[in-house]
Amino acid sequence: MNGAGLVVSHVSRRFGGVLALNGVSFAVRAGEIKSVIGPNGAGKSTLLNILSGVTAPSSGTVSLDGRRIERLPAHRRVAAGIARTFQNLQLFSDMSVLENVMVGAHTTQRAGFMDALCGSRKSNEDTVRAQAFALDLLAQFGLKSRAHSPAHALSYGEAKLLEIARAMASRPRMLLLDEPLAGLPYGSVKQVAEVVRALNRAGTSIVLVEHNVKAVMQLSDSVVVLANGEFVSEGTPDAIRSDRAVIDAYLGEPADAA
Ligand SMILES: Nc1ncnc2c1ncn2[C@@H]1O[C@H](COP(=O)(O)OP(=O)(O)OP(=O)(O)O)[C@@H](O)[C@H]1O
Ligand SMILES: [Mg+2]
Repeated sequence: MNGAGLVVSHVSRRFGGVLALNGVSFAVRAGEIKSVIGPNGAGKSTLLNILSGVTAPSSGTVSLDGRRIERLPAHRRVAAGIARTFQNLQLFSDMSVLENVMVGAHTTQRAGFMDALCGSRKSNEDTVRAQAFALDLLAQFGLKSRAHSPAHALSYGEAKLLEIARAMASRPRMLLLDEPLAGLPYGSVKQVAEVVRALNRAGTSIVLVEHNVKAVMQLSDSVVVLANGEFVSEGTPDAIRSDRAVIDAYLGEPADAA
């Protein structure tokens, strides 16, 4: 397939005796919200790690817009247009909210390392531009008034939003979200879900890993179901809801846990 989007083809990943993913294939069309669901240990985070370059697949391929990327290091995936958030927050807690976003933007700044080292004018201009862009992003995420607070002063919901804002600072085409709604109070779930929808409407393709099945069904164009590292099913939310193989995969585990 050479169309726009992400193509995961026969991807496997082994950790010692554990086959975390076993020959998983699916595609994410440009512009869609594709959710990946499945019980604990299904291989969802491993999949995002493979897509973002944190982990290499044991076998199989990943293509973005027709270009093979499965061996690119993480920073080159960001340059290729992929950004992500983590299941466990990975913010720099002592840095300010604004600085956290600017870290996410650094790969898109034009000035090179030597320019920055020598304090050249180009570097200063880039820093000013990056700061203005980061403040715009914070405003979009309702965090502008918190720009100069340390990240550790944020509520959990604000911190989850900041992680997404930081990912967006690299201007990705494809955003990978690992459980952005987990642990949030109801009001924040709605807020973060709205942010995800708004980012998608503005043109960002999204791969959403999430246990909150209700939110997944409301947000997604299509859903992939994994269990024990295996591909179980793929389809529209309506098709997935009534799929016997999906119901079986969740047996013994509440599908609507969050
Ligand atoms: N670095 C690792 N070393 C060894 N085993 C790992 C590693 N990462 C993941 N695994 C194993 O791979 C399997 C899939 O884990 P993964 O974290 O991808 O699941 P998940 O679907 O994200 O689960 P959850 O819903 O609990 O977040 C599990 O059995 C896990 O223990
Ligand atoms: Mg996980």
